[in-house]
Amino acid sequence: MDYFEYRDGELWAEGVRVKELAERFGTPLYVYSKRTLTRHYHAFDTALGELDHLTCFSVKANGNVSLLRLLGGLGAGVDIVSGGELHRALTAGIDPRKIVFSGVGKQEHEIRDALKADILMFNVESAQELKHIGRIAAEMNTPARISIRINPDVDPKTHPYISTGLKKNKFGLDMLEAAGAYLLAKEAPFVEPVGMDCHIGSQLTQIDPFVEALKKLLAFADRLQFSGVDIRYLDLGGGLGITYNEEAPPLPADLGQAIVDSLAGRTLTVILEPGRAIAGNAGILVTQVLYTKKSSAKNFVIVDAAMNDLVRPSLYGAYHRIGEVTPKYREKIVVDVVGPICESSDFLAQDRRLPAVEPGEHLAVFSAGAYGFTMSSQYNARPRAAEVIVDGDQTTQARRRETYADLIALEI
Ligand code: LLP
Repeated sequence: MDYFEYRDGELWAEGVRVKELAERFGTPLYVYSKRTLTRHYHAFDTALGELDHLTCFSVKANGNVSLLRLLGGLGAGVDIVSGGELHRALTAGIDPRKIVFSGVGKQEHEIRDALKADILMFNVESAQELKHIGRIAAEMNTPARISIRINPDVDPKTHPYISTGLKKNKFGLDMLEAAGAYLLAKEAPFVEPVGMDCHIGSQLTQIDPFVEALKKLLAFADRLQFSGVDIRYLDLGGGLGITYNEEAPPLPADLGQAIVDSLAGRTLTVILEPGRAIAGNAGILVTQVLYTKKSSAKNFVIVDAAMNDLVRPSLYGAYHRIGEVTPKYREKIVVDVVGPICESSDFLAQDRRLPAVEPGEHLAVFSAGAYGFTMSSQYNARPRAAEVIVDGDQTTQARRRETYADLIALEI
C-alpha cells in the first residue's frame, strides 16, 4: 500500500499534486513518499513480534542520503555491499553497529574502512575473503565480527538474474565449505564468528523458499554448535517481492510469522535486509511526453525518461505500471513507451494499452523507488534525474538534477 493516488482527477504524492512537482523540478523526476517509506519500514519492524531483530535496509535499492537518514531516524540499520555504500550510510548518520557488509568482492580499503567504523558484521562469502579480513583485522588490532553467507541451494522461483541462492550462483558457500570456514574463523585471533547469513534472491512472491532456506540454516547452526561455534545473529537477507502488476507477494507480517514459527525456543537476533519491499512502491518516476508517432507496426510514445534513468524494463523485461498524471477520458491504444536513447532496448513499456496521450503531458512510472535511481547512468550524456521526497504537503529536494558541467566534471 502506498500514498500515490488519484484524487480529484489527478495523481497526488501524499498531499502534493504530481503535476506541480513536475513543473517545479522538471522531468525526469524521482518522487518518493515519506509516509509510504515509514509504513513499509514499520511493517518489517513489527513483523517479528517479540523476537530480537534488526531491519537493515539494503542500500543498493536506494542509496539517497536523505532517504537513508529518514530510515535511520526510524531505527533502521543498513545492508551495504561497497565502501561507497558505507560512506553513504555513515553520512546519513546510520548507527555503525546496525551495518552489515555483504558482497563477494570486498576490497582491502573497503574492509579497513568498515573495521574502522566498527560495523556490526561482515557477511563473508569465501574462505579467501575470511583470511583476508582476519589478516587486516589483526593488522588493525580490531576484532572483525563475521557471518558466513550460506548458499542453501534453494530455488527462489524468480528472475534468473536476481536468483542468488542456487548452487550455480556466485554467492556464499555451501554448507560443507561453510563448516570449514567457521572452524577457520574460530581459530583466527581477530575474527569472531557471530552470525549466519543467507540471501536467496530478490522479488520473491512465495514464502516457501524463505522457509526452506531458514530450516536448512537452523539445522546447520545446530551442527555447528557441536563444534563450539555459537551463532547469535541469523541474517535472512532481503528478497520479499512487491506488486508491480498483478503479483500478490506475501506481506512482511506473513514472512515474520513464518520466521517466528520456525525459531520457536531459540534466542537468536534476526536480521532482515529488505530493499525493494521498503522502497519500491514508495517511489515513482515522472516523465514528460515529447512526441508520439505511428509506424506501420507500432505506436510509440516518446518520453524524456529513458533506460539510463530506469533500466529495469530493458535489463530484466520488468513491468512497471504507467499512468497519466492528469488523466483524461479518451480512447486507449497499444503503445511502446520509449526514451530518447539510441538503442532499441530503450523502452519503459512495450505493447501497453494506454490512453492516446499527447506531447507535453506527464506520465508516472510506478514502483520505481527501488533499483531505479541507483541503477541509473549518464548514457548518451544524459544528466541524471533529480530526486524529491514528499512529506504530507511538503517537498524537499533530495538530489538536484545533474548539469552538463557535472557530466564532464571529472574528466581531465
Ligand atoms: N541483501 C543482499 C545480500 C542482496 O544481494 C540484496 C539484493 C538484498 C539484500 C535486497 O534485496 P531486495 O529486498 O531488494 O529484494 N536490480 C535488481 C535487484 C537486484 C537485487 C540484488 N540483491 C532489480 O532491479 O530487480
